[in-house]
Amino acid sequence: MTGTLPDLLPAAVALLACPVCGEDLTVAGPGVRCPQGHSFDRARQGHVTLLPAGGSPHAGDSAGMVADRVDFLAAGHYAELTSTLADAVLANGVPRAVLDAGGGTGAHLAGVLDRAPRAVGVVLDASRYAARRAARAHPRAIAVVADTWSRWPVRSGALDRVLVVFAPRNGAETVRVLAPEGRLVVVTPAAEHLAELVGPLGLLHVDPDKAGRLAATLGPHLRPVAATAVREELVLDHPAVRTLVGMGPHARHRTADELAAAIGRLPASVRVTVSVDVTTYAPGRPSESAAAS
Ligand SMILES: C[S@@+](CC[C@H](N)C(=O)[O-])C[C@H]1O[C@@H](n2cnc3c(N)ncnc32)[C@H](O)[C@@H]1O
Repeated sequence: MTGTLPDLLPAAVALLACPVCGEDLTVAGPGVRCPQGHSFDRARQGHVTLLPAGGSPHAGDSAGMVADRVDFLAAGHYAELTSTLADAVLANGVPRAVLDAGGGTGAHLAGVLDRAPRAVGVVLDASRYAARRAARAHPRAIAVVADTWSRWPVRSGALDRVLVVFAPRNGAETVRVLAPEGRLVVVTPAAEHLAELVGPLGLLHVDPDKAGRLAATLGPHLRPVAATAVREELVLDHPAVRTLVGMGPHARHRTADELAAAIGRLPASVRVTVSVDVTTYAPGRPSESAAAS
């Protein structure tokens, strides 16, 4: 993360739509504006808030979770994941417009944009703490506070890729914003992900039917066209384990003291399995791929 706040990039703002009337947004002074005169200031931390009228019931990640995510990702522990995600994004050509839904600090999108030199990017996230970080994640990216369970403040058909990494998936909105040849790339945890920490730290288990539920939620809108996996072993010290646990929902039911005590009982170097699936989807019903094969 750099200390410099990049200008709001017109080409990235051109991907956005007004959350009030749905018309196109453009850069206007210090913020963005639509032809109907609805305007949205840019926060001094760099992000723009484009929530529907009445706001959102979803606050997203807390300041503490985001701080832990920044630290854990900056240490490079998920570099392999970001690299595999970028490979999947580039497998169908180099995109020009990429959106990361529930994109958090923007670190994964930044890794993708580094390999797509003419692309611009947008992070959507419900957490203003995450959006503050994402606003500085990459000079060709902008950060928007938005609720991805609602209508996205994004133009229809404007995007070449949508990314969703460990975040909520909205198939209907993904299909609406993707160009016809666009792709969705989803990263989800597999059953063995962080398995060594689940028992000793009392973490939540990965839903064993996650893959099935993912297919069911996206199924009416998108069909899987490619899949790959990241399987690696991290060796983490206790502070790294704490940030890993702190950045996710795994241990919300435990107090900080309980967690610290449980981490203290682990070996000084903890071997932790990273096991995630990276799946690419194209617009269309699953039956279309069956019929084509
Ligand atoms: C587990 S984090 C993953 C963040 C990022 N994709 C990454 O892998 O570093 C889940 C993210 O989804 C965001 N989120 C949760 N509910 C959301 C919603 N309804 N709309 C937008 N973002 C949401 C959270 O604020 C958080 O940043």
